[in-house]
Formats: sequence, structure tokens, C-alpha cells
Amino acid sequence: MATNINRREWLKTSLLVTGALAIPSAFQKVDAKPYLPLVSNGSNVLSDAEIEQSILAEVAPVIKARLSANENPFGPSKKAKKAIVEAIDNSYRYAFANLQQFADNIATKEGVNRNQVILGAGSGPLLLAAAIYFSKGGGSIVSADPTYNSLPRDAEKSFTAKWVKVPLTADYKHDLDAMEKAIDSNTSLVYLCNPNNPTGTIVDNNKLKAFCERVSKRVPIFIDEAYIDYLPDPEATTLIDCVKKGQNVIVARTFSKLHGFAGLRVGYMIGQPDMITKLEPYCSRGGSISATSVAAAIASYNDKEHLQAALIKTNKSKEYLYSVLKQQGYDYIPSWGNFVMFPVNMDAQRFADEMAQRGVGVRSWKFAGKEWCRVSIGTMKEMKAFEEAFKQIS
Ligand SMILES: Cc1ncc(COP(=O)(O)O)c(C=O)c1O
Repeated sequence: MATNINRREWLKTSLLVTGALAIPSAFQKVDAKPYLPLVSNGSNVLSDAEIEQSILAEVAPVIKARLSANENPFGPSKKAKKAIVEAIDNSYRYAFANLQQFADNIATKEGVNRNQVILGAGSGPLLLAAAIYFSKGGGSIVSADPTYNSLPRDAEKSFTAKWVKVPLTADYKHDLDAMEKAIDSNTSLVYLCNPNNPTGTIVDNNKLKAFCERVSKRVPIFIDEAYIDYLPDPEATTLIDCVKKGQNVIVARTFSKLHGFAGLRVGYMIGQPDMITKLEPYCSRGGSISATSVAAAIASYNDKEHLQAALIKTNKSKEYLYSVLKQQGYDYIPSWGNFVMFPVNMDAQRFADEMAQRGVGVRSWKFAGKEWCRVSIGTMKEMKAFEEAFKQIS
């Protein structure tokens, strides 16, 4: 017993030290009740396998489904895995040549110049670079609310910019008119996530393009296209078109979603050459992707077959989730991403906690006067684990 307590204490301390983190609330409850530490706020830094290890089993129930961070459980492609293995031998060298090649591949595919592309270890660091740059001089960032808040929240919390939040429309989409009205002489950036996380909604493409054409004359626009690969025709929907027309628009992409690279860390950003030059100093000048990850990214970039297969599996799991929600009498916001938002009829954090105790990680939100759960799309096995837990508490 004493040993158990000591191990718990050790685990608690080591997780907090490793920064597991920003989740003290979960661990504060450890003593009272065995608890999944990291799932309910989406900052999960442990792999399922680690959580399943016996040491963790002492404080957490077995995790059955990690549906809290919009990862792609179908993982990286075979070609990407092979490229990683092959890259290991030469990984004592800086990966200059592959970084160059990857950026060239992106420029060619997207029809932009090489000096319009910058790479990052995921898109998170690129969003952070923009948060730092556009906060200089104390500007304000206009975004929807709720949206993926990393960029505007960092700008506000760490770099003292002002965050102007514009509520979504009644159908949970970006309110472009209201966003335009919210811009003033102090605005340094408009941040727009399309498809939007956490709602999974998209904005009418023509309206968004017209918005960018008009608004980018006044202020730069940052379009976060993390989930664009889940759309039926990403190439027709991307706002890289606006960049190509010379507009002051920056587009960020990540391999963390459909490519299945969340832990490999690959992303990129496309913008006007002068804007890329300004942002470069804040994002390691594009050299932060590891040799193994950049080799994998080159292999995955044009692997249409793998991406299509992942998309089909995601959509199948998503349809299953919809059917479960309908069967239980729940509404949901139809989603264009690999996650679904639905209103719950209890405190949303309590809902997430109850799910976590049943081994299923989801996220909670409060907005538009409702309590919401966001569930990421997993494998069918994970969706069934969600179903089982959900039926117990719905
Ligand atoms: C909209 C959006 N943008 C950016 C990111 C950051 O992703 P990454 O840093 O893994 O590329 C995420 C992660 O979930 C996201 O949802």
C-alpha cells in the first residue's frame, strides 16, 4: 500500500514536472478517485501505450479512446514510416537538402514561389510566430469565438495584444460581416480557422474570398487550414489562391491531421515574400523539422492513396458517431473536420470528466448559452468505446 502511494506521488510529480501539465485539475482529483490525467483538456502528451503501462494503471483506468486532440488514429502512411527508417542513418547531419526539397515541393504544388513558403515543426510554432509578430506594438487580433484559440490567446496572454472576439452566427459559422466591423485602426491581424475548430463549420468560399480581397487591403489575414484536407476539394477551397493574387493573406497548414503526423511535427505557412521574411526570425527560419520527420513528410505529401483511405475511414467513423448521437436524441453540428461538436445536457466539464472516468477522452466547451462536448473522430473501435461510455451517462 505504502509502495502504491509512493508510486502515485512519484507519478504525480514527474507528470507535472514534464509539463503534462496545464491540467492540474485532473491530478488534484487523483487521490479522491483514479482518473485519466490528460484527456479532458486535450493537452495529452502521453501515448496510449504509456498510459496503459502498469505504473499508470495504478492511477488511471485503461484509456480506451483518446478523442480529445483531433489526431488521426489511422496514422502516417507506410511510405512515411519507411522514409523515417531510411533517414535515421544520416540523421547525424542537418537535413538542409530535404528541408529545401520539401519546401520546393510545396511551392511547386501550390503554385507559389519558394520564398513564399516557410516550414515549421507543426503549424503550432508558426501560429506562435504570428502571435509574437502581430502583437508587437500592442495591436489587436480579431477572431471568431469560439475558434482555435492558440494564436489569439498567446498574443493576448503572453504578448499583451488585445483579442477581439466575434461570436459565431446562429448556425455556428464565422460571422464575416461582424468580423469586418470589429476591425479598427488598432487591428494588427484577423485570424480565421477554416474549417473552424471546435465547431467543424466552414465559411462560404466565395464570401470568404471576397472578404479576404477587401479586408486584406486594410489588415493581414491569417487563415488556419489545419483541417482543409478533410474537405471534398481542398484545392478548390484553399485560400492560397488569395496569396497568389498578391493579397496580404497568410495560410497555415499542418500534417498533424489527415497525414497522421501529430507527433512527428510538420507544418508550413504560405504568404507574401515580405511577410514570410518578417515572420521567419520567429520560426527558426524554417529549420525546425527533424531529419526523420521531413523525410516522412516528403513521402506523405503526394500520397493521395493513403490520404484518401484515411479520409474514407474517418468519414465512416464520423457517420457512425452521428448515428449514435441521433439514436440517443442528441443534436450535433455537422462537421467538415475530424471532430464533432454536440450540446450536452449537463455541465460540459462534468460530462468530459465522466467520460474520462470511463476511459474516453473528450473536450468540453461553453458557448452560445449551451454546454458542449467535442469528440474527435477515432477508429471504429474507439467510436464504439465512446458509444458505450456515452450511453451510460446520456
Ligand atoms: C485549427 C488548428 N490549427 C493548428 C493546430 C496545431 O496543430 P500542429 O501544431 O500539430 O500542427 C491545431 C491542432 O489541433 C488546430 O486544431
